[in-house]
Amino acid sequence: MQESSRPRALWGSRIGFILAAAGSAVGLGNIWKFPYITGNNGGGAFVLVYLVCIALVGLPIMIAELMIGRHTQRDAVGAFISLAGRRSPWQLAGWVSILAAFVILSYYSVVAGWTLDYILRALQGTFTAAAGTDAGQTAEHITALFGGLIENGSRQLIWHCIFISLCLGIVIGGVQKGIERWSKILMPVLLGLLILLFVNGMLSDGARQAIAFMFRPDFHKLTSGAVLEALGHAFFTLSLGMAAMITYGSYLSRKDDLFGSGLRIALLDTGIALMAGLAIFPIVFSAGMQPGAGPGLVFQTIPVVFSSLPGGNILALLFFLLLAFAALTSAISLLESQVAYLIDERGWGRKRATVCLASLAFVVGIPSALSSNVLRQVTPIADLGVFDSIDLIASNYLLPISGLLTALYVGWFWSGQEEKGELLAGGSGWIYPTWHFLIRFVAPVAVGAILYYKIEETGLFTLIKNLF
Ligand code: PFF
Repeated sequence: MQESSRPRALWGSRIGFILAAAGSAVGLGNIWKFPYITGNNGGGAFVLVYLVCIALVGLPIMIAELMIGRHTQRDAVGAFISLAGRRSPWQLAGWVSILAAFVILSYYSVVAGWTLDYILRALQGTFTAAAGTDAGQTAEHITALFGGLIENGSRQLIWHCIFISLCLGIVIGGVQKGIERWSKILMPVLLGLLILLFVNGMLSDGARQAIAFMFRPDFHKLTSGAVLEALGHAFFTLSLGMAAMITYGSYLSRKDDLFGSGLRIALLDTGIALMAGLAIFPIVFSAGMQPGAGPGLVFQTIPVVFSSLPGGNILALLFFLLLAFAALTSAISLLESQVAYLIDERGWGRKRATVCLASLAFVVGIPSALSSNVLRQVTPIADLGVFDSIDLIASNYLLPISGLLTALYVGWFWSGQEEKGELLAGGSGWIYPTWHFLIRFVAPVAVGAILYYKIEETGLFTLIKNLF
């Protein structure tokens, strides 16, 4: 049932929309994942490939999602129903994307909870070397903090609950008074924090080494795996395949320039990812440490480095605030995408939809919060915790499936006139032929390739073959 009696909420201003959508895009993926995969996959060569992936695949799909949202003025499932019909299989694209948003929010919130824990520790002065202890002792103490946190289920659950409650508090306020208002506060603060940390990094001894690590092209490291990683990351970092851009697009007015907005969002996202690398690695290198992988880099290496610097506790506080804000503006888009479904398709009120979905996300996230110890043994995928299994299923399968279906539908089955109209309305009709070529041919092949390799890599083909 579509709720037609209530007028649809719209963004109050274009900048409000751009900040909210960039807030969705800029998240944990930018601050820790991008710098790290760049360094490991050939530095400058990888950055080049990544930029090409953003321009040729990410941006066209983002524009397609915004277009679908704005044209139909509905949530992701309703949008495909309204375009292709209630019985059409294309609505699967909407369902998969909402499922992905649901699954990802549950564990994203657990990691975001860790950032809140570190903010509290910074406020308590944990990242200041205690007088009388040597550097080795301090490093050991701080490294142990992370292990202690992920072994401590109840502590993680409390933070997970607090983080989900923050999301709830923002989303319940609605599009303009909740999401837009908070994005307009959080995003400029996030940028300010990042600039401070970036300048600090560039002034430190490790700046040259960091620039070389991130930008010196090493084509030997640029394997086909690296190209796929660049593609996959371009997808995740722009919040594609998770209903977010369709939902945010549905609050746009008819006259907005979709191409111009999409371009700004992609530029902000990429610029922030690059700056994050140039903020983090100089200090890691100046302390003579190695860039470690994933959570280890952010929650172990960096705090240890901070504790060895004068004023390190303040830097730690700024850094974890930055991470928490980035995670919060991303998580609200995941929650909003699901809330929009209940409001548009089921006729629920915003309050009830937000409270129910946030509570559900909390409950579903519990295994992720506890996965480091007890539940690790009972997960179906060998050697992976619930946390990693969920991440693997969501980012390897759900996102590319919904992205592929979206690109195929928009490229091959949607009416060209309607698509063109969406671009013409904002004055970007000139980009239509290029965009149409990319969404029709390039995007499906690229996303199809990600899906194929991910399935092969995780042994799904072998599993299916063995079954028959
Ligand atoms: N783009 C976010 C990041 O880079 O961390 C992750 C994300 C948030 C994906 C919200 C999808 C989404 F809807």
